[in-house]
Amino acid sequence: MRILAFGASNSRNSLNKSLAYHAADLFKAEVLPTAEIELLDLNDYEMPIYSIDRETENGIPDKAHAFYAAIGNADGLIISFAEHNGSYTAAFKNSLDWMTRIDRRIYQAKPLLLLSTSPGQGGGANVMKTALTGAAHFGAEVVGSLSVKSFHQSFDLENRTLVDPDLKNDLLAALKALGNGSSG
Ligand SMILES: Cc1cc2nc3c(=O)[nH]c(=O)nc-3n(C[C@H](O)[C@H](O)[C@H](O)COP(=O)(O)O)c2cc1C
Repeated sequence: MRILAFGASNSRNSLNKSLAYHAADLFKAEVLPTAEIELLDLNDYEMPIYSIDRETENGIPDKAHAFYAAIGNADGLIISFAEHNGSYTAAFKNSLDWMTRIDRRIYQAKPLLLLSTSPGQGGGANVMKTALTGAAHFGAEVVGSLSVKSFHQSFDLENRTLVDPDLKNDLLAALKALGNGSSG
């Protein structure tokens, strides 16, 4: 089983990237040791801001095709969503907009575990709501979701691991569902 994990943020030191990568580590360590893990960095897929005029003049960027193909090559997805002003980061929304010009169902019927985190008490709950609402429209099979509030209290960045045992158990349960390809 091939798992693709990324943070939906273009911050070099993205908290969500750390959380997504930790979830992927945990998947391999505790759920499926034979899993192949691909860690994607959104910065490697930076594209011009979507506009119908750019699309008409230059077509869809190669990076949009490459991102869509990376999703297509996976058997399961772990995405941790950063929240900017209550919604997706501009960087992720831009990638999403371009990819929907290839196929509205950008998630290509893959099992998807949605995560979010922020330094505050919200834990990215607003972007999580947006991402969950859109997931079916964009062709995902949602297997679970988890928002981690107060990131710096909940996560040990140096060792890239959740420190709260209850949260870690919740994450593990969601990862097992990802391994089964279902929310059950
Ligand atoms: C422009 C901007 C808007 C933000 N808006 C929110 C917000 O609506 N809710 C929230 O919880 N945090 C917000 N934050 C703080 C982010 O949660 C914080 O920067 C976090 O580190 C982003 O995740 P990342 O590190 O994965 O990029 C905002 C940060 C920026 C720079």
